[in-house]
Amino acid sequence: MCGIVGYIGTKQAAPIILDGLSKLEYRGYDSAGMAIYDGGKINITKSVGRLKVLENLTHGGETMPGICGIGHTRWATHGVPSNTNAHPHYNAAETITVVHNGIIENYLHLRQMLTDKGYQFVSETDTEVLAHLLDYYYRGNPLETVTKVLHRVEGSYALGILFADCPDQVFAARKDSPLVVGQNEDGCFIASDVPAILKYTRKVYYVDNQEVVRLRADHMHFYSVDEEELTKEPVTIEWDANAAEKAGYEHFMLKEMYEQPKTVTDTLMPRIKEKDIVIEELNMSDEELNSVNKIHIVACGSAYHAGVTGKYVIEGLARIPVEVDLASEFRYRNPILEEGAMVVVISQSGETADTLAALRESKARGFKVLGIVNVVGSSIAREADNVMYTWAGPEIAVATTKAYSAQLVALYLLAMKFGKARGKIDSKLFASLLGDLKRLPNQIEMLLNNKLKIQKFANRYIGAKDVFFIGRGIDYAISLEGSLKLKEISYIHSEAYAAGELKHGTISLIEEGTLVAAVSTQPDLYAKTISNMVEVKARGAFVLAVTCEENKEIEKAADYVIYIPETNPYFTNSLAIIPLQLFGYYVAVGKGCDVDKPRNLAKSVTVE
Ligand code: F6R
Repeated sequence: MCGIVGYIGTKQAAPIILDGLSKLEYRGYDSAGMAIYDGGKINITKSVGRLKVLENLTHGGETMPGICGIGHTRWATHGVPSNTNAHPHYNAAETITVVHNGIIENYLHLRQMLTDKGYQFVSETDTEVLAHLLDYYYRGNPLETVTKVLHRVEGSYALGILFADCPDQVFAARKDSPLVVGQNEDGCFIASDVPAILKYTRKVYYVDNQEVVRLRADHMHFYSVDEEELTKEPVTIEWDANAAEKAGYEHFMLKEMYEQPKTVTDTLMPRIKEKDIVIEELNMSDEELNSVNKIHIVACGSAYHAGVTGKYVIEGLARIPVEVDLASEFRYRNPILEEGAMVVVISQSGETADTLAALRESKARGFKVLGIVNVVGSSIAREADNVMYTWAGPEIAVATTKAYSAQLVALYLLAMKFGKARGKIDSKLFASLLGDLKRLPNQIEMLLNNKLKIQKFANRYIGAKDVFFIGRGIDYAISLEGSLKLKEISYIHSEAYAAGELKHGTISLIEEGTLVAAVSTQPDLYAKTISNMVEVKARGAFVLAVTCEENKEIEKAADYVIYIPETNPYFTNSLAIIPLQLFGYYVAVGKGCDVDKPRNLAKSVTVE
């Protein structure tokens, strides 16, 4: 969701900025722009649509000379995608320019105040108030100007700012929207996400809330909003720059699905030690684990779906009541958190605005928060009391696959850890569960190798209007994720239902030929789900079943069956989701959709 790249150094800035922005394309955007100081003035070029348009307009940046500049990919919030609304935004004299991620919440008030003082606005954006406000406060001292503006604005921001008067400096600032800066021998860089500058430097500084950075060609200085100089430690990024490349796969999503065996291994294995589960990051003794009387899981989207599975698994294995909330609901519903409760937030990006707000709400009420997070150094990772990382590496495709799979296994580990500490899992069951966990990566690989079968089946449904996913218990949680995967990338309307709920309304939507994907991996519920399949089949549905190898009975009710290998029923989500991910992917590919960057979506949702 929106991307920022900035550079000041000895090389031409525009090609570096374009290259950096291309690494942020996955985040989702609808227009792009760059501001470059050419030695006399600041030039801005913007375009609607893909970054390619901006690249073509500027011949890969060549036609924009200059060694310092800022660039942006915009995901429209205030005002339609257009050249006028695209960033960077200028002041009237075109001497100050700004790029911004986030939302200025008091922009209407500021806009009115500036309009009353004679400022004229050309765009519908909240960002333009920043350009004029910077102009309003500017008296020749850019640092002082930036901090004055930050004291006036409310909301969230990551900013890149350029003053024509001070072309040897670029400014960056942040509140509640991610921002990193880095340096190499050729200059200093700003980025809203690490992949944008990973090619140039591995040592980055995470800018904290309400900090300002002054970047020059050969050094950077950090300041508080009160202009006090700060000392910060760099973080070395361990992951390989190639991890953010496609490596011969047609799409990042396909590559990331194929990385799932490794992701699951990397998340599980360091925490399985000598036939036990050791989660050092939890920082909880068995006694403390025992004293937890309720777990609140809070997340958005697929991470929420992982949480729904977590509820079934934790309640089943550890016998602790679990409540799962959508973060956007949790933060405003005044949730009841009672003594002994523990809050777990789940997030791939670690930057999701609602999840971050839920974390802060819980902490403000005095509850400890465990973050299950993928991006090291992200806001949630830094603000959570304890962090359990999912070692999925960078996930580029907007639709999550490998991070979701890693979240699932992190939750299984937690469930087993709690279950054992509370005496709810005996040693025999524990050993058998550990064995099943260790087998998951190979089993996932086996299912991935079945992709041609799924592709063939998916090709029959590229014209589908509606698809329903049904299941009970954990199978309902799998259905939620299977349905989201299909709809978000193929734009086919799809719903997930607890199978028993169908006849309370939704069954009226079933018509001749409607595809119903029935997930049935829970032996205790096989017969119940078969009844629901029979009900929809009787109304004309075509039934695809995803089930376990032992459940051959299902063939009597299904039109097409995909079998998953044997595992403990608590872990079936990790296997059943693979054919459903492949199904969504191949339907979208068959329809010619932009699989990695679905319309209207952003990789990390840093605004409410
Ligand atoms: C769907 C998807 C989203 C995210 C959601 C939360 O494929 O990726 O639903 O799961 O936006 O994002 P994170 O996990 O970054 O908090």
